[in-house]
Amino acid sequence: MHQDVEGIMFSKEQLQTRIAELAAQLDSEYAGKTPLMVGILKGSVMFYADLLRAMTIPVEMDFMAISSYGAGSKSSGEVKLIKDLDRKIEGRDVIIVEDIIDSGYTLSYLKRMLYSRKPSSVKICALLDKYSRRVVPIEADYKGFDCEDEFVIGFGLDYAERYRNLPYIGILKRSVYEK
Ligand code: PRP
Repeated sequence: MHQDVEGIMFSKEQLQTRIAELAAQLDSEYAGKTPLMVGILKGSVMFYADLLRAMTIPVEMDFMAISSYGAGSKSSGEVKLIKDLDRKIEGRDVIIVEDIIDSGYTLSYLKRMLYSRKPSSVKICALLDKYSRRVVPIEADYKGFDCEDEFVIGFGLDYAERYRNLPYIGILKRSVYEK
């Protein structure tokens, strides 16, 4: 285990088992369709790559990048688009792939924006749901795990851009971010 990690919340094996289950669920619910899998950079990258490789139906890939701004903190709820999709989504079945839902600001902004482009459907697939931190009412349609209100890192999740490449979801030691 990494020296900055207090404990493991979800092991590599637990993640892969749950991701395989989610992939099978998506395969079945989207059978006969080719969903457009929209990964939200950067946190979703590991989940996105593993989820898509576990799916067997045809999919298309695209990415968006979002940034929070205003009042110096994401708690302001203001988000802006940094990178848009490459292609039009009118008439498409869109699945937004996220690593975590926290306040819900990011996904509520994204869902509203994508719906305005007249897709056939927009669903949310999130690996982690920190429900206790929710400010705006938004739910994942497909969810990996409920997540306690801890400082989680790894498997795409960062603290100051570090730890994204840990192969598990860990809890960051307080001493790392309180010093
Ligand atoms: C994280 C995460 C979600 C968002 C969730 O991204 O990937 O996009 O925060 O938080 P919310 O529900 O409170 O909006 P972050 O802005 O940390 O960027 P990153 O993916 O590049 O790490």
